[in-house]
Amino acid sequence: MKKTFEGKVALVTGAGSGIGQAAAFAYAVNGAKVIVSDIKDNDTVAKIVADGGEAYFVKTDVSKAEECEQLVKKTIEKYGKIDIAFNNAGILGETNNLAEMSNDGFEKVIAVNLNGVFYCMKYEISAMLKQGSGVIVNTASILGTVGFSAFSGYVAAKHGVVGLTQTAALEYSSKGIRINCVAPGFINTPLLSTLNVKSKEELSLKHPIGRLGEAKEVASLVIWLSSEEASYATGGYYPIDGGYLTS
Ligand SMILES: NC(=O)c1ccc[n+]([C@@H]2O[C@H](COP(=O)([O-])OP(=O)(O)OC[C@H]3O[C@@H](n4cnc5c(N)ncnc54)[C@H](O)[C@@H]3O)[C@@H](O)[C@H]2O)c1
Repeated sequence: MKKTFEGKVALVTGAGSGIGQAAAFAYAVNGAKVIVSDIKDNDTVAKIVADGGEAYFVKTDVSKAEECEQLVKKTIEKYGKIDIAFNNAGILGETNNLAEMSNDGFEKVIAVNLNGVFYCMKYEISAMLKQGSGVIVNTASILGTVGFSAFSGYVAAKHGVVGLTQTAALEYSSKGIRINCVAPGFINTPLLSTLNVKSKEELSLKHPIGRLGEAKEVASLVIWLSSEEASYATGGYYPIDGGYLTS
């Protein structure tokens, strides 16, 4: 039986860990050739290849426009096209109430979590327009629609990702490019490594389902949005949050 993404090329940023790594594995298992991109060296390509898949690492700092341009260029050089892009790289950044937030801390999280998505989409969409097709999924957050104390930079960046997603969908959905974002609740990944057990327990209680999410649970939604099964889905904001936004 033909696999969902057989013959497709999928690019994933922040693919060295957490949600991005889970999505990279899922694309590969479903037959895609995967461009694994991250600012850090990691074992994602080795694991995909060991499992019989196809993947290639392109080191990229998404906060730098020229590196995002190179990422798309190298994807085309390596695999000839870019069918799917999962713009997922992100950091938690400085946590402080707004008046105590350093300017550098605010600017850093905006640079990675918001500018990074803009730069990646800009170059991906240019390539996809030439092909006449493409799918983009961005990682927003539940904090793309609500606030959270001590996270002003992160919250501002994720609200921005939602706006970028909606605007790009308006501009390019009629040109064969579907663009959506996922909005995870708190997910058990290294992003939360600075939180102690008590904080994680308190966070779990904010999710009606009673626990934090797992990276592969988010990846399942990303895979669906990337597939032909989601052919009518564009411009959407898709919470996957154990019910967080309902409370
Ligand atoms: N974990 C959560 O609770 C949660 C909730 C909602 C949204 N998110 C979002 O999910 C995405 C993935 O986070 P995660 O939880 O898997 O965290 P993670 O820390 O496990 O993975 C993030 C990856 O991004 C990479 N990265 C960081 N800065 C980068 C840069 N400048 N350029 C390229 N790569 C960079 C890291 O090296 C890492 O491999 C992020 O956008 C995050 O904001 C996470």
